[in-house]
Amino acid sequence: MIPENEQEWLNAAISRLTVKMEWVSEKSKHKIPYTTVNGTHDDRAAVNPSGAEADGINWWTNGFWGGMMWLMHHETGNEKYKAIAAISEEKLDRCFEEFYGLHHDVGFMWLPTSVANYRVTKNPASRKRALHAANLLAGRFNLAGGFIRAWNDLEEGDTRGWAIIDCMLNIPLLYWASEETGDPRFKQIAMKHADTAIDAFVRSDGSVNHIVEFDPEHGGVVRTYGGQGYEEDSSWTRGQAWGLYGFMMSYIHTQKDEYLQTAKRIAHYFIANMPENGIIPVDFRQPAERRLEDDTAAAIAACGLLEVAKAVGKHEQRLYADAAVKLLKAVDKRSDWSQASDGIIQYGSGAYHTPAHHHTIIYGDYYFMEAIFKLKGNDLYLW
Ligand code: GLY
Repeated sequence: MIPENEQEWLNAAISRLTVKMEWVSEKSKHKIPYTTVNGTHDDRAAVNPSGAEADGINWWTNGFWGGMMWLMHHETGNEKYKAIAAISEEKLDRCFEEFYGLHHDVGFMWLPTSVANYRVTKNPASRKRALHAANLLAGRFNLAGGFIRAWNDLEEGDTRGWAIIDCMLNIPLLYWASEETGDPRFKQIAMKHADTAIDAFVRSDGSVNHIVEFDPEHGGVVRTYGGQGYEEDSSWTRGQAWGLYGFMMSYIHTQKDEYLQTAKRIAHYFIANMPENGIIPVDFRQPAERRLEDDTAAAIAACGLLEVAKAVGKHEQRLYADAAVKLLKAVDKRSDWSQASDGIIQYGSGAYHTPAHHHTIIYGDYYFMEAIFKLKGNDLYLW
């Protein structure tokens, strides 16, 4: 999939990744990082929660460090990465006891940790953890609306009817649970959620909403929200990337053509809005005078584009693969490959309206790594 003239860049990027991970993995082996503080990884597992809902061990990104370790183990065969991945996975057991802080993001947490471990080693304890998480996710399904509820009640109000596009990356946990147990219930819930998402989230131009509120008693869309993007009807780029890669994941597990076509529609919208330099804004519809950027969106979109490229015929695939290479080269160029930062990407953004922007975020590093190994043709598919 990589054009011949880009092979040298890809080899160099792989070498940068392996050199960096060799020392960062040792330095942060007992942490579950989310970001960096003065260049050093923080540790979400060490955050002392002030209440059961606090963003400590239950924080939604706590699976990505373990996932990076599994990708590195697959790439290098080095057993140390497997051992470090197990540290994260075991720490996450505390979430099942605390329970209250968990929501639909159990997919993000246990796919790259326990499901990855089980896929590679057949460890029965990992299978048990992943099935436990899948049951928690299935339990969030709203029958009247045909959607999986996203978050728990937020301070600002009632979220019983809220679903978010990001959930497309959580439902592969349900596909895995059906594949593993032979029980179709999990897959039925995942497909119902995906079918609802096509109608409720994906707009006619291929852009997607971040949050959709359904009537939790009777179903039906009540309204949409801008969520982590600029405003309602804007186009939060990480949300576009979640939609693009997420529908591809549903296609990979089910082969339902509508999911592939939906991913392609979102991909066409994304490619049409990509700036010439390949640097992705936080929102494709943000005000021109505020130039906020988000390399996490670029890395996630690159993963989705590469999966679309694999799924379509050889005449079609260049469009998607070339767009992915452009995104990854732009991210690579402004990442920190030195020992000054434990993080790789430096231009992540949590949300348009948060005060902090252009900082390290663990899932930016994770998806960049996944995309690079996909391009090489040697990724361990964790979703
Ligand atoms: N899933 C939340 C986010 O993308 O920030």
